[in-house]
Amino acid sequence: MTKTAIIGAGPCGLSQLRAFQQSELKGEKIPKIVCFEQQDKLGGLWNYSWRTGSNQYGEPVPNSMYRYLWSNGPKECLEFADYPFDKHFGRAIPSFPPREVLYDYILGRAKDGDLKKYVRLSTTVNSVIFDENKFIIKSTNKKENKISTEEFDNVVVATGHFSVPYIPEYEGMDSFSGRIMHSHDFRDAEEFRGKNIVVLGSSYSAEDVALQCYKYGAKSVTIGYRNNPMGFKWPEGMKEVHHLDKLDGKKAIFKDGHLQETDVLILCSGYLHHFPFLEESLKLKTHNRLYPPNLYKGVVWQDNHKLMYLGMQDQFHTFNMFDCQAWYARDVIMGKIKMPDSKEIEKNIKEWISKEEKLEDPIQMIDFQTEYTKELYAASNYPEIDFEIIRKHFHSWEHHKEEDIMTYRNRSFTSPVTGTVAPIHHTPWGEAMDDSMATFLNQK
Ligand SMILES: Cc1cc2nc3c(=O)[nH]c(=O)nc-3n(C[C@H](O)[C@H](O)[C@H](O)COP(=O)(O)OP(=O)(O)OC[C@H]3O[C@@H](n4cnc5c(N)ncnc54)[C@H](O)[C@@H]3O)c2cc1C
Ligand SMILES: NC(=O)c1ccc[n+]([C@@H]2O[C@H](COP(=O)([O-])OP(=O)(O)OC[C@H]3O[C@@H](n4cnc5c(N)ncnc54)[C@H](OP(=O)(O)O)[C@@H]3O)[C@@H](O)[C@H]2O)c1
Repeated sequence: MTKTAIIGAGPCGLSQLRAFQQSELKGEKIPKIVCFEQQDKLGGLWNYSWRTGSNQYGEPVPNSMYRYLWSNGPKECLEFADYPFDKHFGRAIPSFPPREVLYDYILGRAKDGDLKKYVRLSTTVNSVIFDENKFIIKSTNKKENKISTEEFDNVVVATGHFSVPYIPEYEGMDSFSGRIMHSHDFRDAEEFRGKNIVVLGSSYSAEDVALQCYKYGAKSVTIGYRNNPMGFKWPEGMKEVHHLDKLDGKKAIFKDGHLQETDVLILCSGYLHHFPFLEESLKLKTHNRLYPPNLYKGVVWQDNHKLMYLGMQDQFHTFNMFDCQAWYARDVIMGKIKMPDSKEIEKNIKEWISKEEKLEDPIQMIDFQTEYTKELYAASNYPEIDFEIIRKHFHSWEHHKEEDIMTYRNRSFTSPVTGTVAPIHHTPWGEAMDDSMATFLNQK
């Protein structure tokens, strides 16, 4: 029997486990599976707790989640084809749930498939090397203080890429008397009530961190974009200005000459793809993009087809795209999908990358990732789901955000799996200060 290691039990690692579990359920012979997870619970960055930051063993928990995070896309766009929201919650729920609700949904499918039995919790993978056609994995179980060395035939890297912050430096940071932090360390918007906040960046973290600070009572919120502004109609008290030039005392000075008194500077400057446990020849090197290089079908390591990466793309599509990747990876590992020759692989990767480089706006990017996901979907037996509905939902979502960034989360969408129309949430997002599952599900 061959052995497959899955590193990480976040949404991607759980997709991989589910893919194998579904095969086993059909009577197919699956490899022996070991999933390594350094946290003490399943769910990746959705597993937010007061421990997020550092754990009981004194080691950092590289998780970027924070309180009051609500889904930034319609839940219908990420719905699992084999585990609909209606099935999990026993009824229809609104389209933009807070973190705890999505976490519950992720754990629900894991429980449904008894996936935990494959996972070694509190176990960090320290190194992976490839030698004599096998992967040698060294791991440490912190709970038992046990170090193990094992051989595997295949490895699936599912460690995420939004946990290790990219931290740029600006003139004046050294002498700035306020607080400087990265969105990775942002935990609770309430602590910024009454303060002047400067947020740097123009992507999802910048948008959401800025809105959170505004919603929970910051005195002013100023967003500094580097290349292109987000350009939303920000509510009074929020503004978007051109890039930070330097800090001077407690002032932020922007490239357009704008001056802002600043208590807290929050760097929403993105994350690094960081795989310290992989030997160099196995390491994906990329920035956050829709088609990272050296991955055939965005999944299979070009130079070693026994190594898979899941979820390494920048993400419009998430959970069901991870599923399509995992179902594909499973079929490669189980020999159901054969790899073409290296020339064809090279050509295919180049074609996707060249298409990606021509993309000009979010709608084209959504279409690109939808086409990518549909191609993977067609290659495996992932259960029925309508990616055309998901594409349309993403387009509408973009328009709703342009119309009003404060109200887009109040909209309702249709399930691509069951056709259920989501009810409107009882409280508009801008007024919903309590993000607990109990309050969210308590429909009036
Ligand atoms: C702040 C934030 C908010 C987000 N909000 C949304 C949202 O609203 N909707 C959405 O669809 N997506 C959202 N995302 C995108 C997110 O990338 C995905 O939802 C999803 O969590 C990615 O899953 P993953 O399994 O790839 O990574 P992760 O969720 O990061 O899980 C990776 C797992 O690997 C483990 N791991 C890492 N290294 C090791 C190691 N060496 N050994 C053992 N285990 C290891 C980690 O502990 C972790 O559990 C958000 C991302 C961030 C950062
Ligand atoms: N549910 C939610 O509401 C929510 C909230 C937060 C995050 N997320 C998710 O988290 C993931 C990560 O998002 P992210 O925004 O952290 O990362 P990201 O999408 O990779 O964006 C990184 C941002 O950093 C900026 N940047 C990079 N270097 C910079 C520098 N030197 N100075 C200033 N800005 C710099 C980039 O600017 P340029 O564009 O100019 O290059 C870009 O805007 C996404 O999947 C997102 O969906 C979701």
